[in-house]
Amino acid sequence: MNKARASGKVILLGEHAVVHGVPALAAGLDRGVEVEVEAAEKTSIVIGERRSDAGDGSDTVRALEALLAALGSGPVSVRARLELPAGSGLGVSAALGVAVARAVLGVAENAYAGVRERVLAAAAAWEGVFHGAPSGIDAAVAERGGCIQFSRGEGIEPIRLARPVPLVVAVAGPPASTKLMVSQVAHLRERRPALVDKTFEGIRALVSNARLCLEAGDLPGLGKLMDLNQMLLAGLMVSTEDIERTCDIVRRAGALGAKLTGAGGGGVVVALADLDPDPLLLALRRENIECFSATVTSEGKP
Ligand code: PMV
Repeated sequence: MNKARASGKVILLGEHAVVHGVPALAAGLDRGVEVEVEAAEKTSIVIGERRSDAGDGSDTVRALEALLAALGSGPVSVRARLELPAGSGLGVSAALGVAVARAVLGVAENAYAGVRERVLAAAAAWEGVFHGAPSGIDAAVAERGGCIQFSRGEGIEPIRLARPVPLVVAVAGPPASTKLMVSQVAHLRERRPALVDKTFEGIRALVSNARLCLEAGDLPGLGKLMDLNQMLLAGLMVSTEDIERTCDIVRRAGALGAKLTGAGGGGVVVALADLDPDPLLLALRRENIECFSATVTSEGKP
């Protein structure tokens, strides 16, 4: 039996625009997924309490079969343990794809370049079943960890942080389907191309300034850029009342900035703490909002 892990992620700035070629900034979380994989007569996967078997028509099994085909592997049984809420924008699905591919190949997290490419290709086959045409940012962070700039054309650039970045992640509401949210933005772009392209160019400028803030350790500057990114995401119609309310709660509790992370339409908010995350966690828990803190560092797995 082979075991493997992969990280969940937050997108610090640039979701949705990244699908259309704009760079985005993302960071791996210490939490993620852990899997055990062994060869079997028939493919099956158990995620927490939920079991899916070959032939049951579920997306999960179809994704696993696509991943195994990409690796040229025979049937396996997978048992997965999640350390993050699934489907809420924290990259659990991509982390599962990366971890299962690692376990099938029997490789450690710091595999050499050729193997990393195979892991990413297998994770892309897995993600394709859930997301249609994902940008690949989730799998890139799940595979590498640390803080990265990702763009569809140029791939990954690791970012050297001047100081650790203290974040709070809050579950603002039930998640929406990433595939649906991505297609809503694409439809909005068909109807209002000038407006949406202007928004994407605005996001591009925010991302490029945010990278400078990360490299200089300017957390207040980064927070303001996150707030502006949230305004532009609301303009793309991917924010919700729950997301706006959660952003409001953390900002009033002293967050330097806050925004949705991932596809939006529900799901999670990421807030930038001013050194101490506790006041933000307290304010969220007073409102019964599930939350946790996470510190982002430069260390990925080169
Ligand atoms: O999978 P999620 O919910 O973290 O969303 C990924 C970010 C998007 O930009 C909305 C989609 C993508 O493929 O990049």
